[in-house]
Amino acid sequence: MLMKRLISITIAAISLMASFGASGEEISITTDNTKLTLWKGDDGLLTVRGYGLKRDTLNSYGGSDEQVQQFLFYPTYGDGFLGDSALQVTHADGDIATRLEVQDVKVVQDKKDKNIITTEILMKDPAQDFYVTIYLRAYQNEDVIQIWTKIENKEKGGVTLHKFASASVMNFSPSYWLTHFTGSWANEANMTEEKLTRGKKEIYSNLGSRAHRMATPMFLVSLLGPSNEDSAYMIGGTLMWPGSFSMRFDIDSTRGLRMTMGGDNRSDGYYLDKGESLETPKSLWVFSDKGKNGISQKFHKWGRKYSMRNPKKPRPVLLNNWEATGMGFDENRLVGLFEDAKGTGVDIFLLDDGWFGGKYVRNADNSSLGDWKVAEGKLPSGLGYLCKEAKARGMEFGIWLEPEMVSPKSELFEAHPEWALRSANRNYVLGRNQLVLDLTNPEVKKYVWKIFEDTLRPNPIKYVKWDANCCIYQPVSDFQPKNKKGNVDFEYNKSLLDIMKKFSKEFPDTAAMLCSGGGGRVDYASLQNFESFWASDNTDPMSRVFIQWGFGHFYPSNSMSAHVTHMGGRPMKFCADVAMSGALGFDLDISKVSPEDKEYIKKTIELYKKEIRPITSAGDYYRLKSPYEHAQSAVMFVNKGKGVVFVYQTRDDENDQTVKLKGLDPDKTYTIKEVGFYADGQKSEIKGDGQAFKGRELMENGIVVPTKKACGSSIILLSEKK
Ligand code: DGJ
Repeated sequence: MLMKRLISITIAAISLMASFGASGEEISITTDNTKLTLWKGDDGLLTVRGYGLKRDTLNSYGGSDEQVQQFLFYPTYGDGFLGDSALQVTHADGDIATRLEVQDVKVVQDKKDKNIITTEILMKDPAQDFYVTIYLRAYQNEDVIQIWTKIENKEKGGVTLHKFASASVMNFSPSYWLTHFTGSWANEANMTEEKLTRGKKEIYSNLGSRAHRMATPMFLVSLLGPSNEDSAYMIGGTLMWPGSFSMRFDIDSTRGLRMTMGGDNRSDGYYLDKGESLETPKSLWVFSDKGKNGISQKFHKWGRKYSMRNPKKPRPVLLNNWEATGMGFDENRLVGLFEDAKGTGVDIFLLDDGWFGGKYVRNADNSSLGDWKVAEGKLPSGLGYLCKEAKARGMEFGIWLEPEMVSPKSELFEAHPEWALRSANRNYVLGRNQLVLDLTNPEVKKYVWKIFEDTLRPNPIKYVKWDANCCIYQPVSDFQPKNKKGNVDFEYNKSLLDIMKKFSKEFPDTAAMLCSGGGGRVDYASLQNFESFWASDNTDPMSRVFIQWGFGHFYPSNSMSAHVTHMGGRPMKFCADVAMSGALGFDLDISKVSPEDKEYIKKTIELYKKEIRPITSAGDYYRLKSPYEHAQSAVMFVNKGKGVVFVYQTRDDENDQTVKLKGLDPDKTYTIKEVGFYADGQKSEIKGDGQAFKGRELMENGIVVPTKKACGSSIILLSEKK
């Protein structure tokens, strides 16, 4: 409380220091609790005066009139702005400077959804027929502000955009701590927090496709001090874009922090022909005075309402065969796997990579991508037969596709080498022995769409895992004309989103998982068309605790597919307890697990569907103990008087076994009950198990959960006493 008070006083003091420059009018973008304050000067320039809580008026524009350009909201290159510009253009006549002046401001209330108000600010360069509209869409209840731009070229010839960010927001605080989510294959969404100092820090991807392999486009900035879960003043941001991106943090000459985000990286100059326009990806911004938890809950709430496919539909329990068989299977082996899974409660059998090929059969990752015909030698009776056999054993059937890719060893590549993005007159740079198809070519786009039609229409396939295992190493398109060669990365991803959208619309009953060589593609634009994403190929639960913790800052638990496998050789209970805090699935050969494990799998699926999934799918999420800081970590979900707590021990440590709960009503009474024991008859070692406690007690004193040894875990259900 005292801390909060001090923070408010500090902010008020900063606000008092504010001196306002040129005369003009305020344009404020408000949500229920937050405010982004812009200023339209009489000179037409649009500046930013602060972003924070409505009640704190965190507006500390400290510039004099002559410095006004340094505070531009969408700063352009070459007209007085000296920092990291959001827009840089070479105009048709060779002019390299751009100035944007506000021409019109419109505030539009969404007709169907009262929660959404969009402010549209039309700007023009006084010296050029060049226009930018900035869209600021405020989602009132969730405190999300979505910002993007439309850039229009009405000049006499083509222009080149060197930079075309989606947004550039400023905050004015005494200090800033940045958390980013970087890593690589099998090690996604690692969290690092660092204090920002004067100068620029960039989190970016140059990968084109599978673009989030090394960095996920999401960030947290804590103001006034390092981040915490519950009370820090923080900004969270992410970009709705599956492609390359740039997130730049610059403590510039104003001593404010400029945060610029966009999908414009590695564009090498995007060419916009006369009469053409470009819409930049949507960026999302949240401000909260309730720390990381405040940010996460707002993103989860917003995501579930506006940017996930079928957010309320329970995620099916999958049985995947990738870890169990790799590409070494045939029809009989698969039917055997169905048979083993019969009666376990698995909803869908998901057939992974290796089922296709024509002249070349896919038995390893060095051929056949592009030839999406059933490999007759392996599966002589076809996919329809597999659907039927799975169904006969109480499961639906799903399939793996990697539609954007081509193997040089494929009939497709032999017929159409020009359909692949590659440097034709140099050695090709391959990733996992493959190339990326040129989706900027409408003919290729048509071909890729046909893969879905040909695979899904004739068969009752109820699930698709959409994979993408290669980056665009050589962003060279034979299709694009000379002046548009630099547009490839961006246009590729626009086309990709079109195909994803079409898939989701045309196959409404086929659920889908977004996958990209593990968690190489995770963003809220793609996720509109998928029920979940594959967070990582690393399914060792010891690593998953961290990976899911990272992604969970922006994405709700039912969007994170999490499978139980043998990776890491951990006890089955630990594997399942970790997977159940996401969207549970399995990837193992059930015939090879012990009878005890098989029995446990059955019980676990039942428990998950009945007791856990309803709470994790719709509940509010709280991080209780971080695996980065404690040997025992914990998360919990609360939904309508019910709760579930997951506790994981990642290192031996008998101390530090108290878990303090969150999100409960302090005055209500809750019964706590440990569930999910490996063997029947096992008893909880939690003191107070089965008893009722006041929410206050559970939150202030906590519960002692003796997980103690590495791989220990517990699941505790809470129910409010009426
Ligand atoms: C990468 C994915 O992340 C894996 O789960 C699996 O589907 C393989 N690709 C198949 O090639």
